[in-house]
Amino acid sequence: MSLPIRDDLRGLEPYGAPQLDVPVRLNTNENSYPVPETVVDAIGKALQAELRDLNRYPDRDAVALRTDLADYLGHGLKAENVWAANGSNEVQQQLLQAFGGPGRTALGFTPAYSMHPLLATGTGTRWVDGYRAEDFGLSVEHAVAQVEKHRPDLVFLCSPNNPTGTALDPAVAAAVLDAAPGMVVVDEAYAEFARPGTPSALSVLPGHQRLVVTRTMSKAFGFAGGRLGYLAADPAVIDAVQLVRLPYHLSALTQAAARAALAHRGALLATVEAIKEQRDRIVAVLRSRGRRVADSDANFVLYEIGPQGAGSDQKIAWRALLDRGVLVRDVGLAGWLRVTAGTKAETDAFLEASAQRVNQEAQP
Ligand SMILES: Cc1ncc(COP(=O)(O)O)c(C=O)c1O
Repeated sequence: MSLPIRDDLRGLEPYGAPQLDVPVRLNTNENSYPVPETVVDAIGKALQAELRDLNRYPDRDAVALRTDLADYLGHGLKAENVWAANGSNEVQQQLLQAFGGPGRTALGFTPAYSMHPLLATGTGTRWVDGYRAEDFGLSVEHAVAQVEKHRPDLVFLCSPNNPTGTALDPAVAAAVLDAAPGMVVVDEAYAEFARPGTPSALSVLPGHQRLVVTRTMSKAFGFAGGRLGYLAADPAVIDAVQLVRLPYHLSALTQAAARAALAHRGALLATVEAIKEQRDRIVAVLRSRGRRVADSDANFVLYEIGPQGAGSDQKIAWRALLDRGVLVRDVGLAGWLRVTAGTKAETDAFLEASAQRVNQEAQP
């Protein structure tokens, strides 16, 4: 018996990164460090203070939280430039609800974040899978040509790009912004991990009403379980997403916990440098083993599993690592896997487990 589900959803698979109970989990680009005790205490107090008032709906506009987020972002942004939701996934869904939808089109440059097409489909927006160069790069010329060909209502850029890890050349974002007839969304979920000198699209927000930058507390802040994502844009964009957001979509507990986390951002973001160190170590070690590895501005690394021409089945390599207790991500790119940079011990475990595979391959 089949349900009368929408035709365009029939037969699709839901998003489903495996959640497996293994010793080393490096597959969803979380921050591996637990929340420090001082911050645990602060969030606990903030939540406690909300409990008596849970009979009331929360602040629908989350003004205090948006003020704190604007303060964190800097660039002269104010609460009126910022909108928050349950993860940047929800923010992007709201953008698609407001600016996409039936009869409209969104374009992204694959491989990029796998949720962008799923969110488009869920909102009835036609998704166009744009392409990148063989080395995953995206040139101004290729990006503009695709935008001009498809005339999308929304363009999704991802910088640093997931799954490749590399930040986008700012000239590409600028050119896309010039060429695009509709909204341009720059997903900067991993911005805090970028290598020095990598500019954020936040710096070009003034004067660009169709530009939206999305961010999240799920990665550098180590707050993935708290579910808090946000965007920065012209106030008119915030007015538009308010037309589609559910009333009271951000619970009082989420708002309070996120504010407490932001107030302790120094302690939370203190892990970023250590993570970047492990990321750079993974890149260096895998390159020294002769693997092709994409440059990373994020907390993960995309790497080729075998010497060119050999061992190209990433599913086998993924399973071999899992058998050694290390969970990485198969993003569906033949011959490549993605690994999150975790703690030093987790990185040791990954490098050790992946070296075993190299040795095995070397045997006749
Ligand atoms: C590029 C990118 N954007 C957004 C997200 C989702 O973040 P959130 O937890 O804020 O929904 C992820 C998570 O992996 C991501 O890789």
